[in-house]
Amino acid sequence: RSVIARAVEVDSSLSVPSETVDLNWDNLGFGLVHTDYMYVMKCSLGESFTKGELVPFGNIEINPSAGVLNYGQGLFEGLKAYRKEDGNVLLFRPEENAKRMIAGSERMCMPSPSVDQFMQAVKATVLANERWIPPPGKGSLYIRPLLMGSGSVLGLAPAPEYTFLVYVSPVGNYFKEGLSPINLVVETEMHRATPGGTGGVKTIGNYAAVLKAQGAAKAKGYSDVLYLDSTHKKYLEEVSSCNIFVVKGNTISTPDIKGTILPGITRKSIIDVARDQGFEVFEKPVTVDELLDADEVFCTGTAVVVSPVGSITYLGKRVAYGSSGVGLVSQQLYSGLTRLQMGLADDKMGWIVE
Ligand code: COI
Repeated sequence: RSVIARAVEVDSSLSVPSETVDLNWDNLGFGLVHTDYMYVMKCSLGESFTKGELVPFGNIEINPSAGVLNYGQGLFEGLKAYRKEDGNVLLFRPEENAKRMIAGSERMCMPSPSVDQFMQAVKATVLANERWIPPPGKGSLYIRPLLMGSGSVLGLAPAPEYTFLVYVSPVGNYFKEGLSPINLVVETEMHRATPGGTGGVKTIGNYAAVLKAQGAAKAKGYSDVLYLDSTHKKYLEEVSSCNIFVVKGNTISTPDIKGTILPGITRKSIIDVARDQGFEVFEKPVTVDELLDADEVFCTGTAVVVSPVGSITYLGKRVAYGSSGVGLVSQQLYSGLTRLQMGLADDKMGWIVE
């Protein structure tokens, strides 16, 4: 049986191309590269997912009245596979993505794949696209699981049919700045989420909602936007695509999870890595004043990993962190996390799945 069929329960007749891909591994950004296969599994409302399959990567056919197109009934996830020097392929905490999708599906009234089904689908898709995993140190294979209401629904209601899909793409750095510090602007008018809303789940609409503020910020030369809480306009929430941390001395603070902030898996991992490195970490409301008074600021996310922040602009006032380059704490945490993800450090937390 093929290596994929042995690793996961999929069709053993699948042929996986073995020719090396024509890609400049030194020039990867965060854009879609068409790979060989994607995974698709469907089920009806009120039923459970049973069996999916790998199909050639490509466009999907969807009815114009699908729930996801009309009413935004959709979730996504993001995780990464790394190639090790010895050829093994590593996933970082994939069960956490599976669990977050299950939690989100409950909020969005959708059936979800089980943790096991999610893991099988992710492993199958990664192995079927193995030749697209960048060489060690050159990037990673970004894995994008989607869950959507694919059935037709005209009146507002949960869709009658759901599609779980996994596709992948080799990626490098998320921000065009690469590993250099990014420049953020605090948004004081538009909000990403409200209490009782869906800010704490990875629903597609959260990401459409930030495009306007993000576009305006980019047009002014900023890398991205930092959102404030919609009630007091005083506490930090998150950046469009990542969580935020502020460093003061030996203390690191990040906004606590209370429904309006995405519970990032990198966020949670960095909290543990930082505590392991001897920092005192607080999950608590963090004010704009604390942000402006910080020694260092950084963002975390699957796509952005650990991105140092070079400056914050708030109501026209710009505060720069450090004299130049990447702050020591950000550097130390980036290295601690990525060494684990790439299989270069002892996985004492049991986060790696080969
Ligand atoms: C990720 O970090 O994986 C995300 O889902 C953020 C996305 C906007 C790239």
